[in-house]
Amino acid sequence: MTLPVAVLVSGRGSNLQAILDACASGGLDARVAIVVSNHAGVPALQRAALAGVPSAVFTLRTYSDRAAAHSAMAAAIAGVGAELVVLAGFDHILAPIFFVRLSGVPVINLHPALLPLFGGRGMHGDKVHEAVLASGATESGCTVHRVHPETVDLGEVVVQRRVPIEPGDTAETLAARVLEQEHGAIVDAIRRFVPTAVSR
Ligand code: GAR
Repeated sequence: MTLPVAVLVSGRGSNLQAILDACASGGLDARVAIVVSNHAGVPALQRAALAGVPSAVFTLRTYSDRAAAHSAMAAAIAGVGAELVVLAGFDHILAPIFFVRLSGVPVINLHPALLPLFGGRGMHGDKVHEAVLASGATESGCTVHRVHPETVDLGEVVVQRRVPIEPGDTAETLAARVLEQEHGAIVDAIRRFVPTAVSR
């Protein structure tokens, strides 16, 4: 059964693209039912439009607070019948009301490091890779994990992929190699939520 998925984005949307491509090629039995962004005018929204996928924008400026914005976001996601929420480069922490309104719908997040290392509040994008390099670690990678209310980067791991750190790596070169792995990891992770046909 094709899994209806909501993808939450904040910027570039290359992971959204990987998901859209996997759905289009038949490599993933899912369909992106809605793309939701917390920023207007970001490239991820153009990717959704090009793929013919509906999108919606919920900026903090339009709502009285984060809870109001995330509650409206959850209502839009429930409205399209999404059965999985995927945070693919989403840069806000979801308010608890989001989970209440989408009770029973799993939420997963993609993070560009090997959690539980280099996660937590404020750890997004290049900051993560800079921290990894500063630590002297010999490998990094990416993690897709479950998201629960009031926690950041602490949910159960769904998929993890490892990337060696090479001599002379900068945050930029490391980010690029990790991103390549992210594109496969996010698709693999979604696949785990696709219901399998029960044979009698
Ligand atoms: C990805 O590298 C993702 O892991 C990261 O944002 C990037 C989004 O790229 N997410 C985080 O850092 C979450 N803490 P994309 O917009 O091209 O998919």
